[in-house]
Amino acid sequence: MTTPVLPRHLGFELMRVTEQAALAAGRWMGLNQPEAADRAASLAMQQMFSTLEIDGRLVIGEDAKLGPDIPLHSGQALGTGRGPAVDIVADAIDGCRLLAQGHGTAVSVAAAAPRGTLWAPVPAIYMDKIIVGKAVGAALVPECLDAPAAWTLALVARAVGKRVGDLVVFVLARPRHDALVAEIRRAGARVMLSPDGDVLGALLAITPNSGVDLLMGIGGVPEGVIAACAVRAAGGAMLGRLAPQSAAEREALLAAGLDTRQILDDERLVSSNQVFFAATGITDGPLLRGVHYLGDRATSNSLILRGETHGRRQIITEHLLGE
Ligand code: FBP
Repeated sequence: MTTPVLPRHLGFELMRVTEQAALAAGRWMGLNQPEAADRAASLAMQQMFSTLEIDGRLVIGEDAKLGPDIPLHSGQALGTGRGPAVDIVADAIDGCRLLAQGHGTAVSVAAAAPRGTLWAPVPAIYMDKIIVGKAVGAALVPECLDAPAAWTLALVARAVGKRVGDLVVFVLARPRHDALVAEIRRAGARVMLSPDGDVLGALLAITPNSGVDLLMGIGGVPEGVIAACAVRAAGGAMLGRLAPQSAAEREALLAAGLDTRQILDDERLVSSNQVFFAATGITDGPLLRGVHYLGDRATSNSLILRGETHGRRQIITEHLLGE
């Protein structure tokens, strides 16, 4: 199969998709209804995807975790069916609970690459991740996933020309990370414990001077593949490995013939540099402002990354809202 050449405006098209999801999601801020918010945003996302001239396929969704009735599920066709064959990963809201509680940093994200180039370990739910920026790049080696955190932190510190005590590590606040967090603190680095949203954590890790130097720990697989697209497009580095969190997940992986020992780097997670990534802020965060509504208008703030050029665009859009 020859790899299709993807049009360079695909990142803008993905941004239209994340914008619509964010505009729909923002209305649910602070309403304590995370599932309803996710559904509304996913439907808005799906609707905008249906206008894109692509033969798209969502390679891995959150159905293994949330059940088969969600609007965006693994294997789903997206787009008009005409145009280049692309793999897609998307999350209408990364940080549903943050949004539902009225907190910042919820984002809508989507990424695309030529058909067959995105890792899609359906029905996996969780994976272990380490994500660093361009300055660390090739210094990140597979051993880092199993080495003591102090070893990896020393390696990262050396690569970026900092002391370990200067580093900040983004980690999801989960009991499964208690030992990791203790290790990081013992090594002398600092921790940004976040209640949710490791796609945003990945974006912070690959953005110079964001205040975060790396991301470590276990989060969702779809979020991991989305993050890998951002890493490939921006030029950082990533390691990932499946990390089942229950006996049922472990059995499902076994039945699907998936290897839980295999460590993948970003070039195996996303095996093409024709990769596009878009994110739109839903609630205000350190990289992107959220959606702000004013009467018949709303403004949104988005990021587009393109792998072939490592181009990075930040776009403010003013939307005229329908009735
Ligand atoms: P959703 O907002 O899509 O539910 O994801 C939030 C999130 O924090 C992700 O960023 C992360 O990868 C995943 O949940 C971690 O899963 P869990 O909450 O089960 O630990």
